[in-house]
Amino acid sequence: MLKLGIMEMIRNSEDGLTISEIAKKANISTYAAKCLLEASLCIGIVLVDPNTDKFTISKTGWFLINDPATRVNINFNHDVNYLGWFNLEESLIEGKPIGLKTLGDWPTVYEGLSSLPKQIQDSWFGFDHFYSDNSFDQALEIVFANKPKTLLDVGGNTGRWALRCVDYDKDVNVTILDLPQQIGMMKDNVKGQNGADRIDGLGINLLDESSEMPTDRKFEAIWMSQFLDCFSEEQIVSILRRAAKVMDCDSRLYIMETLWDRQRFEPAALCLTLTSLYFTAIANGNSKMYHSEDMERLVKEAGLQIEQIHDYLGQGHSIIVCKLK
Ligand SMILES: C[S@@+](CC[C@H](N)C(=O)[O-])C[C@H]1O[C@@H](n2cnc3c(N)ncnc32)[C@H](O)[C@@H]1O
Repeated sequence: MLKLGIMEMIRNSEDGLTISEIAKKANISTYAAKCLLEASLCIGIVLVDPNTDKFTISKTGWFLINDPATRVNINFNHDVNYLGWFNLEESLIEGKPIGLKTLGDWPTVYEGLSSLPKQIQDSWFGFDHFYSDNSFDQALEIVFANKPKTLLDVGGNTGRWALRCVDYDKDVNVTILDLPQQIGMMKDNVKGQNGADRIDGLGINLLDESSEMPTDRKFEAIWMSQFLDCFSEEQIVSILRRAAKVMDCDSRLYIMETLWDRQRFEPAALCLTLTSLYFTAIANGNSKMYHSEDMERLVKEAGLQIEQIHDYLGQGHSIIVCKLK
């Protein structure tokens, strides 16, 4: 209904459209239009007037067209997850992302991000960016309240947060750590933008326990946004221990995550716990959207203490502020 433009066609009509009008406009058979419209009626995204047989969109249908979160979720599920979720059961049992083979041949999805087919890549980044972008305004105020001059962005991806930081504070220098493929994409993305000369990138695979974060200086702020959910509990402790090594007593680590138990609305918890199954079958087979108590336990295990937790940023992020014990 979305892809064939039928939802928009109905919305844009004066007083609704009949099945044959829709079939003609969408260039599909009456049979195809009937199947789609009857299913849509039962799903609740369209309404039909029994006197005129004309279809109009319902309130839910209106959100399906207009709500950006719904669109990025649908695109992400269709393009990234749909085929791979066929292998969910094996993935759960083996602790490996067996469904990832539907996208390519890499140990985790992250090695493949820069080489995904265009539509899948757009849907992956569309989903990732939508959620983090929506929290950046509030996050900048929290992080820059302490006026850090050096910021380490772990898992900084295409550099969107780094660009916001150098734009927000003309004195800050940002170092991005990410897989080498992503550092290449980041460099292309920040080139020529305001403050790009204060953004540095370092390719690193943090799954390799011997890969240390840059130890030539201490970072006043360490930023991990939508990053720790890409790792298992053991891996998170190892990464946080390595982060603690580049902190001093004035440094703060900011962990921005969508914690499923700290959502304002119940459907958000449903979206997040089901997003965990993307990590199971596609991303890496061993990570998830975490419960705050699990994350707090892992932070403490890594030798850090929690100073404060900010909730309800953007679409449902929390920021856990940590310092050395
Ligand atoms: C879900 S994205 C989050 C991106 C960005 N921080 C944001 O908030 O939109 C996770 C990032 O972690 C990086 N990453 C995943 N596994 C990694 C690894 N083993 N070593 C270094 N970076 C990794 C990915 O390449 C990706 O850029």
